[in-house]
Amino acid sequence: YMDGYKDFTLDPINFPVEEMKKFVNALHQNGQKYVVILDPGISVNKTYPTYTRGMQADIFIKRNGIPYLGKVWPGLTYFPDFLNPSTGMFWGNEIKKFHELLPVDGLWIDMNEVSNFISSPPNPSSTLDNPPYKINNAGIQRLIGEETIPATSLHFSNITEYDAHNLYGFLESKATNEALVNVTGKRPFVVSRSTFVGSGKYTAHWTGDNAATWRDLAYTIPSILNSGLFGIPMVGADICGFSGNTTEELCQRWIQLGAFYPFARDHSDKDTIRQELYLWKSVRTTARKVLGLRYRLLPYFYTLMYEAHCKGIPIARPIFFSFPLDKNTYNISSQFLLGKGILVSPVLEPGAVSVDAYFPAGNWFNLFDYSSYVNSQEGIYVKLDAPPDHINVHVREGNILAMQGEAMT
Ligand SMILES: *[C@@H]1O[C@H](CO)[C@@H](O)[C@H](O)[C@H]1NC(C)=O
Ligand SMILES: *[C@@H]1O[C@H](CO)[C@@H](O)[C@H](O)[C@H]1NC(C)=O
Ligand SMILES: *[C@@H]1O[C@H](CO)[C@@H](O)[C@H](O)[C@H]1NC(C)=O
Ligand SMILES: *[C@@H]1O[C@H](CO)[C@@H](O)[C@H](O)[C@H]1NC(C)=O
Ligand SMILES: *[C@@H]1O[C@H](CO)[C@@H](O)[C@H](O)[C@H]1NC(C)=O
Repeated sequence: YMDGYKDFTLDPINFPVEEMKKFVNALHQNGQKYVVILDPGISVNKTYPTYTRGMQADIFIKRNGIPYLGKVWPGLTYFPDFLNPSTGMFWGNEIKKFHELLPVDGLWIDMNEVSNFISSPPNPSSTLDNPPYKINNAGIQRLIGEETIPATSLHFSNITEYDAHNLYGFLESKATNEALVNVTGKRPFVVSRSTFVGSGKYTAHWTGDNAATWRDLAYTIPSILNSGLFGIPMVGADICGFSGNTTEELCQRWIQLGAFYPFARDHSDKDTIRQELYLWKSVRTTARKVLGLRYRLLPYFYTLMYEAHCKGIPIARPIFFSFPLDKNTYNISSQFLLGKGILVSPVLEPGAVSVDAYFPAGNWFNLFDYSSYVNSQEGIYVKLDAPPDHINVHVREGNILAMQGEAMT
């Protein structure tokens, strides 16, 4: 939607402001929301007001006394230093101006690890860019400054990037959240790719650029369970896979699982085949069924979000959370619980029409058809039918689920 990938702008040809306003207003009248993506890098361009205001406020990360020059989608960029107290005001003001132009409902903050398209040479007068103790960057001991901001760059009051690197996404989330509270007066929606322990107070999280493969479908379960344990309960993975071309079968199985992620979103890279759920008959039929159940469960999800807010308990939980004395549950990462009583047991392999699911002790009722149930005396594996159109979702006896009717939005 941007003009040349510049933050806080609209492409005048393909996304002209008047048309965009009409579009967003129509969404709002229909009870829907509009969220746009933003990156932290500010395009270095003298005709770009956000850039000139950033230079005036002197809020960019520096190296050798001048702003550090990186490269991201818009080309050459400087990076706001969210450790600088003036940056919150700069960022908040840009968000306020953009919101006046287009009343977006939230912001999706990407590339904030920070991801940089270039790697700058190490500074020979310091060991920070090439420390004697190597971190296992990318699993192959790449230089720590590879495709990010160099470690010798400086934040406000001379704090090195070496010391502050992992906090960039966290601090950007905090500033973005505060800015949205200011302009909307509401609890805002922010979703960030980079997070740190504590980010869950300010932002939701998606697990980043996964691939449209069965292996990555399976990895989404430990990924979302880990984020929940790290205090980031509103989390999900890109449904149907981000990079590479998905397939009808993979997408069908992925929406069956993804409908029960706390944050459920289908998303792909721009050079892959399209993967909107309605494109295949099998996928849209399944999507209606599982998203229908998600919508009916939304009051339950909201209850769990409130519980996460008050007590820090994840929304999606490992099975051992409810059954800590059942040792069989400790290594299960192919199933999970929503709250304490809903068990999700997805198919994670191509061609499978059944699933071996573990049931801790109790009576477990199929949430799509209450008449079928599993009676488990002391924890058992059960081979359940899982034809292409079905995911197994059970509720354990003794739980009360607040539910509602389905709707079209
Ligand atoms: C600066 O921005 C203007 C307006 O979008 C654009 O036409 C121009 O190509 C940009 N210059 C550079 C160096 O990116
Ligand atoms: C939010 O508004 C307050 C009061 O006007 C202001 O002090 C603060 O800088 C604003 N924060 C952001 C991030 O815009
Ligand atoms: C930061 O480092 C520079 C150069 O060594 C020094 O002149 C300056 O006083 C330092 N600033 C702070 C706030 O420590
Ligand atoms: C994805 O599909 C498109 C269109 O069929 C094709 O051009 C492209 O090469 C495929 N990509 C991969 C990674 O297979
Ligand atoms: C979990 O551990 C048990 C006992 O060691 C083993 O039989 C089972 O295959 C493991 N399950 C998984 C999913 O790794």
